[in-house]
Amino acid sequence: MISTETQTCESYKSLLKEDFCLPLMTLNHSALINNCRWMQDYADAANVKLAPHGKTSMCPELFKMQLDHGAWGMTLANSYQVKIAYDCGVRKILMANQLVGKGNIQTIIQLLRNDSEFEFCCLVDNQDNVDQLNQQAAELNSPLQVLIEIAPAHGRAGLRSSKEVIELAQYIKYSAPYIQLAGIECYEGVIHSCDPIPDVDKFLHHVAKITARVEELGLFDVEQLILSGGGTVFFDRVAEILGKIKLQSPYELLIRPGCYISHDSGIYGEFQNQLKARDPLARTIAGDLESAIEIFTYVQSLPEPGLAILNIGKRDVSFDSGLPFPKELFSPSTEKLSELNENWQITDLNDQHAFMNFPKESTVKVGDIICCRISHPCLTFDKWPQIALINDDYQVIDFIESRFEKINHLNGVHND
Ligand SMILES: Cc1ncc(COP(=O)(O)O)c(C=O)c1O
Repeated sequence: MISTETQTCESYKSLLKEDFCLPLMTLNHSALINNCRWMQDYADAANVKLAPHGKTSMCPELFKMQLDHGAWGMTLANSYQVKIAYDCGVRKILMANQLVGKGNIQTIIQLLRNDSEFEFCCLVDNQDNVDQLNQQAAELNSPLQVLIEIAPAHGRAGLRSSKEVIELAQYIKYSAPYIQLAGIECYEGVIHSCDPIPDVDKFLHHVAKITARVEELGLFDVEQLILSGGGTVFFDRVAEILGKIKLQSPYELLIRPGCYISHDSGIYGEFQNQLKARDPLARTIAGDLESAIEIFTYVQSLPEPGLAILNIGKRDVSFDSGLPFPKELFSPSTEKLSELNENWQITDLNDQHAFMNFPKESTVKVGDIICCRISHPCLTFDKWPQIALINDDYQVIDFIESRFEKINHLNGVHND
């Protein structure tokens, strides 16, 4: 169990003393605690609930940290992830995705059937899916809760128009007795225009209008509705717009940021700067998100002047939203730690190698340790089943697991 105090202790082994194999993904413990606190403080101040997206880390220890800081429950993306989170003790889950196919539906139905305390809802945007869910939910004691997903044009899954949403809500009410319409969900993070805020706001107003209309028509089937939107990029707009809908029924608004837990020094660092520039509420929250995630790697070859080959590659670090960038160099022979500037750059990655350019006049030796910052946590976490939690002195205070395994739990391969 990780303590909430950042610890420094002579007895901990150090990354800089080469006590561990590298490359290694690390998370700075105090930065994680800071990020949990910052986002929870924001949610509290905005009067919304925080349902962190667990797919970013899939680390049960981090789920616990997020829940201990006051999160409503966890968001997850598929039945494998829901099962892992449930097995690790999470009892309130929004699956922010459609639950499709007999095996996936059965995985969830079995959890609900065996545990009446387990709270779960998933998304729907199609009558055939509602039929399939309805058929299997018949074996539950209480109806399966769903939210209708609304998406912008050219977005991802989700209905586009008010007419489609109302038709599906009517279908659920009149033709799917084992399904309960509990609210509305959207994911505005799929909007990637050059000047996204007007488009995000327009879309969220569209969602708000449809929600009010579905309520007016009496198509929701719960006393307290759930509305949900918001990743790490536009959660402020979701809180502002969906938080102000005038409805007859009380509702909980769940925001679902995932990447804030580790944050980064790339795209999410930039998104957070933009958020703080536009959102007065964010500026009232003490401190700021901090990048907690780094990859420690070795210089393994110096084949040409100004070129170092590092022992990380595409198997170790995300590369979809920018390459990793070198931040510090530690020389085990001199025990000297140096900050690196922008003249030190990773220019390419192979599956197991990184190409790092550096100023020719600098001294670099094979065996030197390079600490890299990254851009986009989701696709880095999934490469590390074991992650080192470190303190500010580069000591490893614990190892935690990420759980991206996809295991079928519906026992056996033979028909009975
Ligand atoms: C449906 C949904 N909700 C929430 C999130 C979390 O957003 P972020 O990755 O920006 O933290 C995602 C991320 O892809 C998502 O797909």
